[in-house]
Amino acid sequence: MSECPVDPRHHRDVVSFIRRGGRLTDRQQLAWDELSDRYVLDVPRAVSSTSVDPEFRLDLSETFGREAPVIMEIGSGRGESLVHAAAEHPEVDFLGLEVYVPGVAQTLVTMRHENVTNVRLAVVDAVPALSTMLPAGALDELRVWFPDPWHKKRHRKRRLITDDFVPLAARVLKPGGVWRLATDWEDYAEQIREVLDRAGPFDFSGDWSERFAGRPITKFEAKGLAKGRTIRDLSAVRR
Ligand SMILES: C[S@@+](CC[C@H](N)C(=O)[O-])C[C@H]1O[C@@H](n2cnc3c(N)ncnc32)[C@H](O)[C@@H]1O
Repeated sequence: MSECPVDPRHHRDVVSFIRRGGRLTDRQQLAWDELSDRYVLDVPRAVSSTSVDPEFRLDLSETFGREAPVIMEIGSGRGESLVHAAAEHPEVDFLGLEVYVPGVAQTLVTMRHENVTNVRLAVVDAVPALSTMLPAGALDELRVWFPDPWHKKRHRKRRLITDDFVPLAARVLKPGGVWRLATDWEDYAEQIREVLDRAGPFDFSGDWSERFAGRPITKFEAKGLAKGRTIRDLSAVRR
């Protein structure tokens, strides 16, 4: 029998997302056609269209064309928070990881509207991206806003933020780098708090943080608020 050519780290049976197709609107298609070459990374794949070739290393200064602090958001969705932050901080570079292509295309629409150029996007699963694609200690900040909550008990194993994710976040953050998270799902908030409490490479107060002032109220946050949910912010610092 021939050897499996796939690095087991990149063959993921349980992932934190369901790949939704979804057509692009005309505006999204136009933005994609005009801007994706410049702003969406051309990632060599291992197996699926959200995987990363384990040999591929991203050179951030080449990608952004300068040396600057880098903040990464996992699951940047339609890019509401990412583009808002990038517009507020032109001196910082922002990288968004998102598996939902219409979300990435919508981010390009908003970038053009806001005249923002300090953002790059990658259509990749965060797990292989953090395992090998990003250089170790490359990030000043890692943000995860409203990760898919996977409400049902039997689906919980799909949640992104577990003990297994901690070494990946620790790998990509600089010492002193900040990991910020927010969720509107109380059970997930508690789980994240427990994960951070046990996370050796991070300093964590054990308590909720103030709402992060740099985050606008996104569609997801608004939905949670409308349903009367409590939004929980958490943050931890890489030792
Ligand atoms: C609930 S949405 C929140 C979007 C955005 N952060 C916001 O606050 O509006 C979660 C997003 O995370 C993305 N996602 C889930 N798992 C991911 C993964 N492993 N890598 C990259 N993106 C992921 C989903 O496609 C989805 O767009």
